[in-house]
Amino acid sequence: MSKIWVGTNWKMTKTIGEGISYTKELKQVANELTSNIELFIIPSFTALVDIKKEVAETRIKLGAQNMHWEDKGAYTGEISPRMLNEIGIDLVELGHSERRQYYNENDSDINKKVVSALKHGMKPLVCIGEEIEQKNNFISFEILAAQLKVCLKGLSEEDAKQVLVAYEPVWAIGEKGIPADSNYVGEVHTFLRHTLVEMFLESGYEIPLLYGGSVNLDNFLKYINHQDVNGLFVGRTAWDLETFTVLLHELEKHLYS
Ligand code: PGA
Repeated sequence: MSKIWVGTNWKMTKTIGEGISYTKELKQVANELTSNIELFIIPSFTALVDIKKEVAETRIKLGAQNMHWEDKGAYTGEISPRMLNEIGIDLVELGHSERRQYYNENDSDINKKVVSALKHGMKPLVCIGEEIEQKNNFISFEILAAQLKVCLKGLSEEDAKQVLVAYEPVWAIGEKGIPADSNYVGEVHTFLRHTLVEMFLESGYEIPLLYGGSVNLDNFLKYINHQDVNGLFVGRTAWDLETFTVLLHELEKHLYS
């Protein structure tokens, strides 16, 4: 797999104005990248329309942080795939651990969203990850396999080619997160690859497997060095464009020079 996916979910941090300024600068950085890096940003819903105008005709892909699986209906406060499609969204992040933890999303809900995103021509970016108790009880692999199997249930080989998976151990995410050991991440990704190939004989090898959770300038190269890590899903380190620029340039140098 030659492409490396690198993107950031802004969570609930940037206003429309802040998002536009960031994107204007990121466009310049993106122009300097000559490589096969697939770059994406995932702003808040309110900023998507304006940021779409900024990224149109650029290499930067645009994602949404969540969506409902229904096309329309009485679901106050929700955003439907039709609404995202109207904006021209490329990908939808589904099942982030904060959605699971604070809004009780489960793998079956995520599966409905995955199917719906595919129906509407958007790439699902499916987040999975084990909790610290599960890791300590040595059941990470079982948990992750179950998450993959339920979240991607019923997909055809063709569907699977559109999917991205982000492995984000819950205990490694955010301010209180502890960065994961890169060998552990490598082992998990190899396991995830095998599971995907078992599920999708033809396309299992093609599904990009991103790593996320406290990715920073000190550790990102260690993660990306593993064969089955096909990208990085970056939170805090990418919210500051200066740091993200350093990461992108160093990554490119490392991968392609
Ligand atoms: P973090 O966030 O890089 O700030 O830990 C990662 C994520 O939640 O995807």
